[in-house]
Amino acid sequence: MREESAAGRSATVRWVGDVAGRLELLDQRALPLAVEVLSLTSVEGVWEAIRTLAVRGAPAIGCAAAFGMVIAGRAVSPLSQAAELVARVREAGNYLKSARPTAVNLEWAVNRMQRVAEAERAVGVRALQTRLLQEAQAILAEDRQMCLAIGRHGAGFIRAGMGVLTHCNAGALATSDHGTALALMYEAQRNGMAFHVYADETRPLLQGARLTAYELQAAGIPTTLICDNMAGLIMRQGKVQLVVVGADRIAANGDTANKIGTYCVATLAKAHGIPFVVAAPSSTFDLSLPSGAGIPIEERAPEEVTEGFGVRTAPLGIAVYNPAFDVTPAELITAIVTERGVIAPVDAAHVAATIVDAQLDR
Ligand code: MRU
Repeated sequence: MREESAAGRSATVRWVGDVAGRLELLDQRALPLAVEVLSLTSVEGVWEAIRTLAVRGAPAIGCAAAFGMVIAGRAVSPLSQAAELVARVREAGNYLKSARPTAVNLEWAVNRMQRVAEAERAVGVRALQTRLLQEAQAILAEDRQMCLAIGRHGAGFIRAGMGVLTHCNAGALATSDHGTALALMYEAQRNGMAFHVYADETRPLLQGARLTAYELQAAGIPTTLICDNMAGLIMRQGKVQLVVVGADRIAANGDTANKIGTYCVATLAKAHGIPFVVAAPSSTFDLSLPSGAGIPIEERAPEEVTEGFGVRTAPLGIAVYNPAFDVTPAELITAIVTERGVIAPVDAAHVAATIVDAQLDR
């Protein structure tokens, strides 16, 4: 039977079979028009799927990369020395990390897999290959539990009759299941709360229009899609009482990188006195960075802006700047909801009190 998410659709990320099996990804490039599943058996295929956003969203990228490490490890002959597997996995890890630089979950998952290979090499190649698959499955299962816990900790931010604005997609499609920002909404819905979501379409790749609108509609949560440049107006019109977004990397002081445009929304929320909440698991924190200034920001191809989805909308030869993420300073963030509880106010001391050990996992 196909594994399905809580929302009843195909799983965002799943492994089929034993060590000799395959990685299946719900191909998000095709949504919402078609439900297609990618079947992957090579490290290069996993890199490509991450790079081209077939799988995207910080936690989902981490889960996919963990299975990429399983694929790297199983390519080694059972007759080889474990050192060969460790070297192969290290090389594949560096390669997978190069697919996308901003979401730290990718690095976190790869490093965790690498540590298992190194620490448990004494068991020999065949047992280590099985052990790597177990670890990747554990990362996937833990992510699911973290998302559910984020939903439980944060659902109280959503009150009856509220308008809730979100940016990009931080839902089940961006995680193993349930999402981070959208986990608050799913939990509030389970609690019988009636509220309305405004989804920013999220230029240039439209994760809000293609993915969040699709996901929330399927879940039966009343949702209105808006262009990114409408957020200020609907705040002024009193339609929004809360903003909730996900995160790709959170520095030690709470500065948060998320999809490009998030900083604009946070600034607008501040100007209108609306709480701005970030939802993310501990695997998204990078305590090695004192502030958001050190977060690497991915720049993507100009064509995403000039001819997104195959239709040219700008003159040939025009200069384009296309950063995929921006950093929202901690002072604009009301609270960060994690699986360990709510961080508020958002500053280095309060982050450290909740995320005491994230640095150990790097
Ligand atoms: O470029 P994407 O689609 O991977 O960007 C995704 C986001 O910015 C999400 O908001 C973030 O990863 C949080 S996902 C729970």
